[in-house]
Amino acid sequence: MDNRKVALITGVTGQDGSYLSEFLIEKGYQVHGIIRRSSVDYRERIAHLEGHPQFHLHYGDMGDSMSLVKVVATVRPTEIYNLAAQSHVQVSFDAPEFTADVDATGVLRVLEAVRANHLEHECRIYQASTSELYGKVEEVPQNENTPFHPYSPYAVAKLYGFWIIKEYREAYNMFCCSGILFNHESERRGETFVTRKITLAAARIAQGKQEKLLLGNLSSLRDWGYAKDYVECMWLILQQPEPEDFVIATGEQHSVREFTYAAFKAAGIELRFEGEDMEEKGICVKGPAELVGKVLVEVSPDFYRPTDVVNLWGDPTKAKTKLGWNPSKTTFEQLVSIMVKHDMEKVAAEHVASVMRTNLAEYLEKGLVK
Ligand code: NAP
Ligand code: GDD
Repeated sequence: MDNRKVALITGVTGQDGSYLSEFLIEKGYQVHGIIRRSSVDYRERIAHLEGHPQFHLHYGDMGDSMSLVKVVATVRPTEIYNLAAQSHVQVSFDAPEFTADVDATGVLRVLEAVRANHLEHECRIYQASTSELYGKVEEVPQNENTPFHPYSPYAVAKLYGFWIIKEYREAYNMFCCSGILFNHESERRGETFVTRKITLAAARIAQGKQEKLLLGNLSSLRDWGYAKDYVECMWLILQQPEPEDFVIATGEQHSVREFTYAAFKAAGIELRFEGEDMEEKGICVKGPAELVGKVLVEVSPDFYRPTDVVNLWGDPTKAKTKLGWNPSKTTFEQLVSIMVKHDMEKVAAEHVASVMRTNLAEYLEKGLVK
């Protein structure tokens, strides 16, 4: 029995990777993360952990088997959390082959890297599966027994990931599991996912930095939780006596329209929605005088998908009973409020920084600073 606590996280720079790193460091793990080279700085979410004695980074890529084999050989992890993915559903329609390589074959590469290093009976593996597997849903709400019906290149790639994990569990008796996670958001969420796009826009519009927010399908329904609460489940899944798959969700459903209303309200703007489909608009009915009566939200075909998943709603009963996890730790209202508060401060700080830049430019021009 290996008593070391050594975690390897792929996708460490992402939303979940950053929260999971903090969580595991707190639990006493040595945490190793795989990063890929980029021409711009993308390590913002983990910058505060760099230099921590329990936090280590290695270059690698989900498309490069050799790099994965080498990192696994160096680290000899006791747990792997495979979070790396091209995770944007709409982008998967534009880059389907890349998405398949990273999100499908990438999972196989991780499993084979473990086997190549003869760690298949020492290292437990968590796979970041997704509620997108339910896609064009066949049942509401969805649980571990609901049939899958993937409805995007992303979901089809993730379906391969789900099944190859199950296959290696059965074929080689490996401890590998999927967490079927429903949407989880946070102040670290990528800025093109709908919740963060909305909270940032609400903050910018409230502070006079943006005129309007353009969205796609306002009627789409999601089960949105808080990412910080969800990483605990990833760990709990790997601490069970037997490898099993779990649905992780709040059990509550809201539309994109409801999220938009709540986010603008938290930013001090009350909206009324009028019209239908492409003609629907969000009009300011209460808030700063200069915004009242203005159209602040409009629908644009640019944000519609060739096939869209519109009715996700998870049943977290198994996670509640077997993992002892609390799906209501952070409510929908608290999630919206955390994100809007963060973005109000971020936008205000951007404003200060841009004033400082303007002043600096002026001072440089006048020769006041060298
Ligand atoms: P995210 O913020 O988009 O992070 C994705 C991570 O994957 C980033 O660290 C990214 O690195 C890395 N990555 C992408 N391509 C890679 C490659 N070729 N090689 C190495 N690393 C690569 O995603 P997230 O929201 O944290 O989600 C984490 C995982 O959970 C993903 O697999 C996602 O599909 C899945 N999931 C997410 C949700 C959700 O609601 N958030 C729900 C269900 C499942 P860079 O920083 O270099 O781009
Ligand atoms: N991104 C985006 N932008 N989505 C919009 C917009 C918009 O302007 N307007 C409406 N939507 C709708 C989408 O059509 C979709 O139905 C819903 O809002 C949520 O979209 P995203 O926030 O992009 O997330 P997602 O549900 O497609 O995918 C996320 O959750 C999955 C779990 O269910 C990602 O994190 C995936 O990686 C994850 O697997």
